[in-house]
Amino acid sequence: MKLSVEETQDGWATLYLPECNEHYHSTFGAFEEARWIYIERGFDVMQAALPAALPAAAPLRILEMGFGTGLNAVLTVRAAARARRQVFYTGVEAYPLSPEMISELGYAARLGAEAGGYAALHALPWAAWRPDLPFTAVTPYFQARKVQALFETTDWPEQAFDLIYYDAFSPRVQPELWTEDVAARLYRALARGGRLITYCAQGRWKKNLQAAGFTLSLLPGPGGKREITAAEKR
Ligand SMILES: C[S@@+](CC[C@H](N)C(=O)[O-])C[C@H]1O[C@@H](n2cnc3c(N)ncnc32)[C@H](O)[C@@H]1O
Repeated sequence: MKLSVEETQDGWATLYLPECNEHYHSTFGAFEEARWIYIERGFDVMQAALPAALPAAAPLRILEMGFGTGLNAVLTVRAAARARRQVFYTGVEAYPLSPEMISELGYAARLGAEAGGYAALHALPWAAWRPDLPFTAVTPYFQARKVQALFETTDWPEQAFDLIYYDAFSPRVQPELWTEDVAARLYRALARGGRLITYCAQGRWKKNLQAAGFTLSLLPGPGGKREITAAEKR
């Protein structure tokens, strides 16, 4: 499908899919959205909940649905270094972007110290899903693997992740990614005490999460967005 690069209100670029009238990030700010939702209300909350002993004592296992441009992933590289927390990151993507598209976004120039980590993330190969797929060290605190798969039909292992970034295209564009069945798969994959964070606060999706067993908190979103959803497996 055809994609074009567009600037968002915080100066960071995003991608636009004209056929679906859908953006990869909020047009109010791609960086702001990633920071506000996935880092501050995802990573930082879990980081605070984990034992603050030796970094290696309690690694944080993250699953991201929709690796896309790698923006959430690279901001997590930064957050992991800042917190001195070992992260094991699994990024899932059905349609990996070309290196040309990644370079056109211009993120590397804006990332400063994380530009190397960003390049290393993109250099990692895509692999088909298997539970023993190895991780590769991207930085001393960030181990990653990239899975090319359709998220909704993959059997994710039980209680294998502490934190899920659920960053799929919207229910309007891809209703198959917001079903009761997907919510149940997410619940199963998350460890007890784990957290799922997503920009989507659609009524039906919230019902599906609750039906799967999640406890929800509705939080304010970035850039004037009324609501985002945090879902906990208690
Ligand atoms: C909202 S964008 C993700 C943005 C991304 N998190 C970032 O930081 O750039 C949604 C992503 O989901 C991917 N995707 C679409 N359908 C998918 C599917 N069935 N399984 C896995 N990934 C899918 C798209 O290709 C796109 O990269």
